[in-house]
Amino acid sequence: MNYFGISTTSAMAPRNSIAEFQELVRSSNRMMALCGAGLSAASGLPTFRGAGGLWRNHEPTDLATPEAFAADPSLVWLFYAWRRHMALKAKPNRGHFALAELAKRKENFICLTQNVDGLSPRAGHPESKLYLLHGSILDNKCFNQCGYIDRNNLSDPICPALAPAAEDYPPDQTLPLLDPNIPAPQIQVEDLPHCPRCKTGLLRPGVVWFNEPLDENMIMQVENWIWQGPVDLMIVVGTAAAVYPAAAYTRKAQRRGAIVAVINPDPDSASGLGPKDFFFQGDAAEILPLLFEPVIGKMDESGKICVEP
Ligand code: APR
Repeated sequence: MNYFGISTTSAMAPRNSIAEFQELVRSSNRMMALCGAGLSAASGLPTFRGAGGLWRNHEPTDLATPEAFAADPSLVWLFYAWRRHMALKAKPNRGHFALAELAKRKENFICLTQNVDGLSPRAGHPESKLYLLHGSILDNKCFNQCGYIDRNNLSDPICPALAPAAEDYPPDQTLPLLDPNIPAPQIQVEDLPHCPRCKTGLLRPGVVWFNEPLDENMIMQVENWIWQGPVDLMIVVGTAAAVYPAAAYTRKAQRRGAIVAVINPDPDSASGLGPKDFFFQGDAAEILPLLFEPVIGKMDESGKICVEP
């Protein structure tokens, strides 16, 4: 078993010819992408593993659990209010635009993303072909599970008490919230957002936390798509493929016959790819527009198509 859980015995390196990949994407019918935090790196959003490091004195993954929210909702909300602020300030990059354009031009292309930052929807990715596996940081839902959900809430800060997480500081200064030597603002639970429907629960970010299942209906739709026919191409963009069930989709697509293409600066992300597969080492924002050019046309620096294919 390798990095993706793909069984392979081949020791031969994957392909890296842009022309060969371009021909494959042009001729492919059923295609799937799995995206991760690396897709948004060029938009200035930190990835989870590696570069990002601690948030105050906490591992980000320790704050992303229902247990952490139940124990200290103010701290977890401060973390998410800061991430919301970063996501709302960021702009989609050429990688998001390239995937959105591919989805508009290839009928049978679905894109699964683990990113909750809202950048793919903001790049105009058709909603019906985009699966937000881990939800959206711009949605809020009732922690008491009364069923209330507030979608695409763009208020920043989300409530007055969380304003310390949504302040902008000059690049040479640190936001006080991020300095673990400065005590975190003490926010009373009653000042956090509450569910307007049941009026008993707190609102929580509409993301999938560790120890929580993915949306059942979404999973069914993706599974149905996979089993509807062979998959020609699986594009894996900017993910460490460490979190399941998302990471398992590469293996599922491979079982349906897919050639796998990985786009990632980390050479370890290519481990286990076979000689029919592709590995493009580098920034997704630079590589994706080029890889899709025969289908989407030439993209300018702002992410607009300037020459039709
Ligand atoms: N272009 C492409 N890939 C990049 C870039 C870039 N510019 N910069 C970094 N990467 C790659 C890294 O090499 C790494 O393989 O992006 C990957 C980011 O990995 P993670 O930080 O682990 O993010 P991700 O795989 O999306 O995490 C999955 O884990 O914490 C949970 O729910 C959270 O959705 C998240 C899930």
